[in-house]
Amino acid sequence: MQRCHTNVVPFMMVLLAACGGGSRSPQATGLGPADSLIPPGPLGSAIRRGRALLVATRDSLPGHVGSALRCTSCHLDEGRRPTGSLVGTYGRYPAYRPRSGIVETIEYRVNDCFRRSLNGAALTPAGDDMRDIVAYLAFLSWGSAPAPPQPNTRLQRWAAFTPDTAAGAALYGATCAKCHGPEGQGTALAPPLWGAKSYNVGAGMARVRTAADFIRNNMPFDQPGTLTDQQAMDVAAFVSARPRPDYRGKELDWPNADPPPDVAYPTAAVQRKAHPAPGRSP
Ligand code: HEC
Ligand code: HEC
Repeated sequence: MQRCHTNVVPFMMVLLAACGGGSRSPQATGLGPADSLIPPGPLGSAIRRGRALLVATRDSLPGHVGSALRCTSCHLDEGRRPTGSLVGTYGRYPAYRPRSGIVETIEYRVNDCFRRSLNGAALTPAGDDMRDIVAYLAFLSWGSAPAPPQPNTRLQRWAAFTPDTAAGAALYGATCAKCHGPEGQGTALAPPLWGAKSYNVGAGMARVRTAADFIRNNMPFDQPGTLTDQQAMDVAAFVSARPRPDYRGKELDWPNADPPPDVAYPTAAVQRKAHPAPGRSP
């Protein structure tokens, strides 16, 4: 039987409803292969353990998580929710990513989320924990054809909106604070959105367009889809402007001087391009 993960009692009702009282599994609506395809034996054990690490990241790997988040705080429904989906990801790596300026393996990409999104520390790429996470990611991609990296349409989609941070603050208080806390610190119902226990400034979610997209499609958790695009942009801008942990080395991101417009910190490559050192060709 599919488990409906939650630590949160009030959500049990909602989740049980979503899971058809326990008789239907979430992937009936979510993306990816049916759990019944998980094979018996060692591979099945690795897949299940990898999934458990995504759901209980902090409890299972405390030395690698510096926030109060877990992987499935953003990759909802065990990575099967369309916005934030990990279905098909495995078949798109290795991939070139401009933030690092290198061809990244799937292990490198997972560790990026450990370092930035969880404000933690990388796993040993060849270790058992990473192996099991990758086994789960591979399972989630069974049935998805391997594909070249997809162009990111999020940047363009949100370019048209001018955020109103004051409107975002009001919306936060009225709609989000009851779960995420008046100071964004998190409650028993939901993880932090800013402050010491949140994702750090180097995380994808710290970029306003990435946050707007996630919030528009997934939040409020109990009524997703009820915000307008403008409201999602406003509240994303408010949340993104709140203080959060720093990310050491962030100025080395986008080494080819091609950061997207919603990156909130200066990068060395852009500065070098704007102010080439005297005597050197630009
Ligand atoms: C604070 C939110 C957040 C948390 C927590 C988080 N991630 Fe992510 N993750 C993101 C965002 C945002 C992206 C970028 C998605 C995109 O560009 O479409 C991403 C991308 C990824 C990707 C690449 C997806 C792709 O298709 O290229 C992988 C793999 C991944 N995350 C794994 C993890 C794992 C494993 C964990 C836990 C160790 C984790 N993430 C925790 C927000 C988060
Ligand atoms: C009914 C409670 C509830 C409400 C209301 C709510 N959220 Fe969430 N939010 C959650 C839960 C639960 C998660 C995922 C937690 C998990 O599974 O670990 C989440 C996750 C998030 C995340 C990614 C993880 C993180 O903590 O960074 C963001 C960003 C977010 N919510 C923003 C918002 C915004 C903005 C609003 C208001 C428009 C909002 N939420 C309203 C419950 C809520």
